[in-house]
Amino acid sequence: MKKTLLEIPSKPRRSASIIGTGSYLPERILTNADLEVLVETSHEWIVERTGILERRIAGEKEFTSHMAAEAAKAAIENAGITVEEIDLILVGTITPDTVFPSTACHVQRLIGAKNATCFDVNAACSGFLFGVEIANQFISNSTYDTVLVIGADKLSSIVNWKDRNTCVLFGDGAGAAILRSRPDSRGIITTHMGSDGNYADILHMPGGGCAIPITSENIDSDLNTLQMNGRETFKQAVTSMMRAANIVLDRCGLTPQDIKCVIPHQANIRIIEAMADRLEVPMSQFHINLDKCGNTSAAAVAIALDEAARSGRFETGDLLLLVVFGGGLTYASSIIEW
Ligand code: ACO
Repeated sequence: MKKTLLEIPSKPRRSASIIGTGSYLPERILTNADLEVLVETSHEWIVERTGILERRIAGEKEFTSHMAAEAAKAAIENAGITVEEIDLILVGTITPDTVFPSTACHVQRLIGAKNATCFDVNAACSGFLFGVEIANQFISNSTYDTVLVIGADKLSSIVNWKDRNTCVLFGDGAGAAILRSRPDSRGIITTHMGSDGNYADILHMPGGGCAIPITSENIDSDLNTLQMNGRETFKQAVTSMMRAANIVLDRCGLTPQDIKCVIPHQANIRIIEAMADRLEVPMSQFHINLDKCGNTSAAAVAIALDEAARSGRFETGDLLLLVVFGGGLTYASSIIEW
């Protein structure tokens, strides 16, 4: 007999928790001294203006999906699940292996997650946290039980190695998290996400899409490389990350002092210092790895989260604040009960 709408059981609402993390960094280290050979710069300038000492660079045949798959395998092991349990794979990236298929589909093939639906999230450096919130929504409404979220970028493939304004800032890597509902934890308590397309051209790669297709002329004009207005990006990064952080803190009735560990986007130590100053918390409350990794774009906050979790910086029940910023503009913040 045909069921009435009232007889169809509604799905339970639940929140998602991060139950495992993993990360991967390529072997090759590019130091500031190495960059001094490539462009007119100095170790002192890079350290003073950015805080970066070195960054990792992926091999020529090492793609975003390879780094993402390694981070994913570590997260799967850390979570103690099987790969077949993964229902959804989300990859935040702006350096996909191919325009299509998505990098998430490449990762699915590499790790054998045959039961997963896969797609990429294009939100530049905010891609991982956007992915975490998309996962949270799918888990909350019971569409999926187990989601693998990855932030992975091979920025070395789109950096203009002749441009000292940008080439000193970036590195390659991947970080991953497994999300699932956990009855003993509130997990992701709240998230704020935002974008402002009016600032699209302060940080972008103009070529490679349908507006400026790949032609030898466009490649010769460096249109297929990352371009950035550094000062404006700096200003927008501080403003939007501060706004996003305050929104989620206010929503939960928390002060910055209630947070055990802040995990910010790893772009520039001075951006993080400006945030610490405005939030009135010591720098020691922030987890920072940009000195060793540079800015790894969508991977940055994911790698930092994995490092911080594995080093025991926080325990079950502690509150974390994740806050990111990226091209688009995009920005996001999340308060998470670990
Ligand atoms: N070595 C030496 N000198 C340099 C270098 C370099 N690598 N790069 C720039 N300079 C020079 C500039 O040419 C300029 O010289 P000029 O005064 O003769 O014109 C001078 O240094 C100062 O340049 P500024 O741009 O004013 O330097 P600033 O202190 O702003 O630092 C920086 C530049 C590091 C890029 C900073 O603006 C910054 O970090 N911005 C934000 C970057 C960011 O967050 N990007 C990514 C976020 S999102 C994502 O990751 C996708």
